[in-house]
Amino acid sequence: MFFQACARPSVCAPLSKTCKPTLSLSQFVARLCAPSPQHLQKAKSSTKASNDGRYSNMPCVSICQSISASKHTASKHHYLDSVSRSFAANTCSLTGSKRLTEYRNSHLNMSMERSLCTTSDRCNRPVGDVLEEMQQVLVELGVLEPRKSVEFFIAHVLGMSTLHGVSADRELTGPEVERVWEMVKLRQQRMPVQYILGEWDFCDIVLKMRQPVFIPRPETEELVGVIKSYLKGLEHQQIRLLEIGCGSGAITLALLKEFPQMEAVAIDKTTHACELTAHNATCLGLTDRLNVIHLDISADTGQLGVFDVIVSNPPYVNTEDMGTLDPQVSRYEDHTALHGGGDGLDVVRHVLTKAQSLLTHKGTLWLEVDTPHPVRIQSLVEETGGLRYLRTLQDFTARDRFCVLQYSGCTR
Ligand SMILES: C[S@@+](CC[C@H](N)C(=O)[O-])C[C@H]1O[C@@H](n2cnc3c(N)ncnc32)[C@H](O)[C@@H]1O
Repeated sequence: MFFQACARPSVCAPLSKTCKPTLSLSQFVARLCAPSPQHLQKAKSSTKASNDGRYSNMPCVSICQSISASKHTASKHHYLDSVSRSFAANTCSLTGSKRLTEYRNSHLNMSMERSLCTTSDRCNRPVGDVLEEMQQVLVELGVLEPRKSVEFFIAHVLGMSTLHGVSADRELTGPEVERVWEMVKLRQQRMPVQYILGEWDFCDIVLKMRQPVFIPRPETEELVGVIKSYLKGLEHQQIRLLEIGCGSGAITLALLKEFPQMEAVAIDKTTHACELTAHNATCLGLTDRLNVIHLDISADTGQLGVFDVIVSNPPYVNTEDMGTLDPQVSRYEDHTALHGGGDGLDVVRHVLTKAQSLLTHKGTLWLEVDTPHPVRIQSLVEETGGLRYLRTLQDFTARDRFCVLQYSGCTR
């Protein structure tokens, strides 16, 4: 068997929308708290296994069957959790989800450490076996996109970007298996794959990734694609680009790479983002056409000059939605890169105001925002003038995500 090429995982909107446990629930509960048959037997005779009203007074195994029959994955996870919590309390003398999680992690870690090397300290293992076993550990913990994560780790250890063309029988050496396992342990803590690998592909460049700088999303590659198409028409012209909130430098560096006549200024409110953009520019040999400035867009921008193109993927998650972010986003990525205030438009408002004085005649502004925002932005610029709203573009899931505006010449 050979592995097929697969798309790299996205992040908050991760690799696949749902992750379905491949173990049956009874196997899962058994593995979770009772690796021995005696423990499973104990589970079968436990008559008050769940705190959940719907399942009280049911034997644990019946609860498992009921949940297994449920079609709804989210409710499966919910009941699975309540079963595992009370099962842990009943049979493992653990209470509280934190202790359960610790127990669960340490149990899974111990069994994986055992299975990694049963006969000697360093054993070779086929890629296919390592992939199956390690993805199972992530599946059992509900980590997003478990298989793709492990595929990337194995590929990385082999010095490749994907497992495409690698035979499942190919042997990994003991130290290679250990390196994959170290990465899986970080993933167990919900660390994004991109931070674990330390680099990520964006358009046709490779960027270094450093926590907590925002990880570029696939939608942003789409935005870069449409800007590239627009700029093709200006190929013989000198182009000055400004990026507001450059993060890792993804947008600016991808455009600089494509257009040798372009010069750019990239600003960001955080030093870690500026440092990473500068580092990525050095790695890509693009420093001579880029000026990275540590600057908040709400501050004085008078010294920046004027630009033919301004682009921004600002923080746009509203306050309410901040509470619903996946742990792999909320724990690891900088909230300055995510939180856009009450309605998600705090930074966008500053960008719209500043763009009026930063754009050249006929200069264009390109924004990546949340789905409800384009309509709001259109009304904002109609009220204030200075910019003309040209159009809204959709992302690959057909959601309104990108706004194109132009200097209207009315306010200067
Ligand atoms: C969603 S991230 C986008 C990063 C990068 N452009 C990308 O698409 O991957 C938003 C970036 O804006 C920066 N930022 C937030 N508020 C800002 C402000 N008021 N002025 C300048 N940059 C800001 C954050 O630090 C973060 O790096």
